[in-house]
Amino acid sequence: MSVKLLDFLSGLSGALDLVSPEVVGHHKRVAYIAVRLAQALGLTRTERTELFMAGLLHDVGGFTVQSRLAALEFEADGILHAEVGYRLLRQNPLLDSVAILVRHHHTPAGQFGSLKSAQGTPERALYLANVLNLADRVDVLAVRYGPTDAKAMVEKLSARAGAQFLPELVAVLPQMTADRDFWLGLACGDPAGLLTAETGLFEERGLSRGQLAQASRSFSQIIDFRSRFTATHSCGVAEAAVQLGRLAGLEPREIDAMRLAGNLHDLGKLAVPGEILDKPGPLDEAERAVMLRHPELTAAILGQVPGLEVVCAWASQHHEQLSGQGYPWGLGADSLTLGARVLAVADVFTALREDRPYRAGVSSTDSLRIMGRLVEAGHLDRDVVGLLAGHQREINARRRDTQALASLEFREFYSGLGQ
Ligand SMILES: [Fe+2]
Ligand SMILES: [Fe+2]
Ligand SMILES: [Fe+2]
Repeated sequence: MSVKLLDFLSGLSGALDLVSPEVVGHHKRVAYIAVRLAQALGLTRTERTELFMAGLLHDVGGFTVQSRLAALEFEADGILHAEVGYRLLRQNPLLDSVAILVRHHHTPAGQFGSLKSAQGTPERALYLANVLNLADRVDVLAVRYGPTDAKAMVEKLSARAGAQFLPELVAVLPQMTADRDFWLGLACGDPAGLLTAETGLFEERGLSRGQLAQASRSFSQIIDFRSRFTATHSCGVAEAAVQLGRLAGLEPREIDAMRLAGNLHDLGKLAVPGEILDKPGPLDEAERAVMLRHPELTAAILGQVPGLEVVCAWASQHHEQLSGQGYPWGLGADSLTLGARVLAVADVFTALREDRPYRAGVSSTDSLRIMGRLVEAGHLDRDVVGLLAGHQREINARRRDTQALASLEFREFYSGLGQ
């Protein structure tokens, strides 16, 4: 699997759009504006790359904690969502320099002095965070003003120089917004893609196996931490699927893909409102319809990332059934590969063992009995379920330990956040 970091993050930033339709495209536009500002300011390639990544992810915390908030509402509470985003990203060594920019993307420049001395935040990070802050505000205002009224927009932002923005940043706005190409880029369907096509603009980083696994794990937390009932689901599925995949004879690089597919299989659930995820009872028809779309959305997101083709197929087929009665595509036994079958079994097994809003976790004997019935009904693969039954104890122990650790991380994550 050869995957580039920027491709991976661009794809996932599309996932954030799913949570809040009000802000579709916001992340990619902010990434674009931040890089245009960086160019005007003469920043280095490393700094441009960091700003681009930070732009793609900057409001991630708003989606995890408070699902479905209107853009302006969560922008008003600058501190909480920025802090949550920081906590989500800092766990990933690839993103720790990005995490600090996200943490301060609403921090007023007037407070930088005290942050430097009290928290020891590096001055350069605060400077870059302020570029991100300005890019974010430009995007919000650009919708209202547009190229014809760019001067008024610049005036509005300039009035906050010193207090909110560093004056030297605001100083490049008149020239940047007088450029027709800036506006054309902003209005195009994929402003972030426009930038990645400009060769030499970014530091290209290909991800190693370990880095990719880590990146998928931090994204699984963004998916899972939205509800306490799913707080550890994706990593449990990934662990069970990896164990089962080994027993089923998958090759090492397929095992790598399986870990990613497990971590990312429910990515499309970002589009499901928190009230539905946490509903303490069966879903009504309309709610079910929203829920049933999630694997298709997982496919739409992962399908955009070059190098993740196999991961995308397995992840998005986890609710398909051999009988062809599954969703979203109704694929049958002819189309479902061993990898997809393994992931489907791991998902059902993990889901049965977990507590849900409307029931406690099911015992191991009962889980196997239920899964046996699903085999008879043509939902799950007989051989894969047979492997699970034969090695139930070890697979379950690995799943349980992984989820117990994740549960500690979940509690630690929210501690001190005032939630
Ligand atoms: Fe924000
Ligand atoms: Fe934002
Ligand atoms: Fe699912």
